[in-house]
Amino acid sequence: MFSARLIHAERAGAAASEYRQSVHLFPSDEFDLCFSAEEQHFVHRFFPTISRLNAVGFKGGAEVSGHFDAAIVHVPRSKPLARHLVHWACQLAPDGMVYVDGAKNEGIASLLKAVKAITPLTGMISAAHGKLFWFRATNLFSSWDASSFFEIEGGFKTKAGVFSAARVDPGSALLSHALPPLCGHVADLGAGWGYLSRTALTSSALKSIDLIEADHAAAEAAVLNCDDPKARIHWEDVITWRAPHLYDHVIMNPPFHLGRKGEPDLGKSFIQKAAAILKKQGMLWMVANRHLPYEETLSQLFVDFREIAGNKRFKVFQAVGASVNAPRSQFGC
Ligand SMILES: C[S@@+](CC[C@H](N)C(=O)[O-])C[C@H]1O[C@@H](n2cnc3c(N)ncnc32)[C@H](O)[C@@H]1O
Repeated sequence: MFSARLIHAERAGAAASEYRQSVHLFPSDEFDLCFSAEEQHFVHRFFPTISRLNAVGFKGGAEVSGHFDAAIVHVPRSKPLARHLVHWACQLAPDGMVYVDGAKNEGIASLLKAVKAITPLTGMISAAHGKLFWFRATNLFSSWDASSFFEIEGGFKTKAGVFSAARVDPGSALLSHALPPLCGHVADLGAGWGYLSRTALTSSALKSIDLIEADHAAAEAAVLNCDDPKARIHWEDVITWRAPHLYDHVIMNPPFHLGRKGEPDLGKSFIQKAAAILKKQGMLWMVANRHLPYEETLSQLFVDFREIAGNKRFKVFQAVGASVNAPRSQFGC
């Protein structure tokens, strides 16, 4: 935990309190914004985290500009993204100090080794199942810049740190193959970089598709991958997004992780949202890891559902007849 490691660092004489303006890159929550600086900013690309931090008064968003005297990297799961953040931190505080914090199970040890091979450290603390280290900003990390989109198999554009950045997810591929040509108005919940929507867009009977995605970089990639007048990309939180109308179909491979933490309830909230935005005869098409317990939620919220495809790892469901019990008002439909 960053706050615990920071206390150790301050006791060891890392004079964090002398900073005027600091910027946090990818803090998990408000407890990560515990640096002693006159002003703390943050940058993130996950819509729900930004909304939560803004709601409790912190300044930040998906973009950041300014000249900071300290930058703190909260190491994300993706290694290319973690390296990119180190490079970006050096750009944001070019004359200042860069702090890098992460848990053991987030690859902090290998990042520490890679940083040390490039520039000398000013300090390092091992505590609370992780490490915090700091060094003077340098432009020696420019080869770690991962801000550009890159192309993967199938011609799709993706970016470091987005879901399934290097290849099409096998679960999503299974759902894509099971989908019939969709007609009418479609919503893709947690659309990522747009793989499922690209499949849906091949149907000439489709009138429109709304892609809702919380990761700013993934939403930007979806704009490139679904360059079609029928597609609208929304950088939003599915749970709080207000649907403009009801849909004929919802397609989704719902998230079940927040960072490293398994969150099957998040998938259940996506199913609730789907039920709330579907027309009475509308259909939900979803894929999930086989071990995830979604059947009860599906049976509560839909008149009927069945497994239409699957293998040892994944199950694909079709659900029809969103029941009147779906909490429509909560979702603004
Ligand atoms: C399992 S991935 C599926 C991505 C894409 N549909 C595919 O099939 O490749 C789930 C996606 O949901 C997004 N996500 C997670 N929580 C979200 C939320 N509250 N609102 C919108 N999108 C969210 C993630 O960023 C991720 O891109």
